[in-house]
Amino acid sequence: MENTPTFFVRGIPVYGEAILAPMDGFSDWPFRSLCRRLGSAMSYTEFVQARDVLNRPRYVEEKLAFDESERPVAFQLYGDDPDEIVEAALRVREKGPDVIDVNMGCPAKSVANRGAGVGLMRSPLKIARTFRKLTAALDLPVTGKIRLGWDDCRSYRLVARIVEEEGGSLVAIHGRTKEQGYGGEANWEAIAEVRQLVKIPVIGNGDVRNVADIRRLKEYTGCEAVMIGRGAIGNPWIFSGLDREQVSPEQVRYMIEEHLARSLSFYGPRLGLELFRKHAVGYLESFGLAREKRKELLTRTRAEEFLELLGEVAVGAGSDLTPVPLLAGERES
Ligand SMILES: Cc1cc2nc3c(=O)[nH]c(=O)nc-3n(C[C@H](O)[C@H](O)[C@H](O)COP(=O)(O)O)c2cc1C
Repeated sequence: MENTPTFFVRGIPVYGEAILAPMDGFSDWPFRSLCRRLGSAMSYTEFVQARDVLNRPRYVEEKLAFDESERPVAFQLYGDDPDEIVEAALRVREKGPDVIDVNMGCPAKSVANRGAGVGLMRSPLKIARTFRKLTAALDLPVTGKIRLGWDDCRSYRLVARIVEEEGGSLVAIHGRTKEQGYGGEANWEAIAEVRQLVKIPVIGNGDVRNVADIRRLKEYTGCEAVMIGRGAIGNPWIFSGLDREQVSPEQVRYMIEEHLARSLSFYGPRLGLELFRKHAVGYLESFGLAREKRKELLTRTRAEEFLELLGEVAVGAGSDLTPVPLLAGERES
């Protein structure tokens, strides 16, 4: 690890410039911990609803589970009520995160239309209240992840400044509006603007698909770091500086085994395989499998059968079936 931190979240040093983006249903502990190990500079949990923290503690327990090796760890919360968010933050603070992050970017109707996620960006005063209360109540850094805003209300400049003025320690910005969802092009110009507007660290996000994009986004915007979402699915090697085409079929197979093992140990045999499947889709893309074969693999209901069939498929993809380490000299026992 480098000796000089790339940036600080208040007093917390962060080493590295690429960070796995929080992704509901994807950046769970098995994937997050794997990416962190491969070089993602910190860990953001999937978002968790403040109300669920208060009412469904068992569900939340799983979402917020983390390893010491993942630190710095940011717990991401969402909600539409400042007091509820503060109460939830105080509750989850007991689990020992390094940072509390507020989601102000989720465009899903069920979230945004009731004023949470990107819905918050239509109520800058509510964001101000939320950050003022959170930063007063917590002894941890509080950060925010935003979008550009709603199409009719691009409040990103104002919201970034509010986050800073109300004591926030970092802002991550996804360069799309709510209406854009995940389509179209991310606006890196706007990210650069936010970088100019505030003094706290800024993480830029949107459309980083390969290693060269990490540098391009950093250079274009001057951001301290870059967040990678979809570009990391099926390609966690991006955090080690490798593009997908640089990864051999043996490495892919090794990663599938490693990732699946983490999923099984975390969720148990049935759910572990089920939740792993969407990642398997990403990993298998490079194998050029026939549709039927792919389907057969993705419908296995037992991990042993999945791995057995994967072995056959990997031979087809030119693998010599020798597992290679994630990173030189590394393999978790
Ligand atoms: C399936 C999925 C789930 C997501 N869940 C979250 C989430 O829980 N919290 C959050 O802040 N952003 C979430 N996002 C948004 C990503 O963090 C990121 O901002 C977005 O995907 C843009 O980055 P990308 O172009 O690198 O994918 C999600 C995105 C996807 C595709």
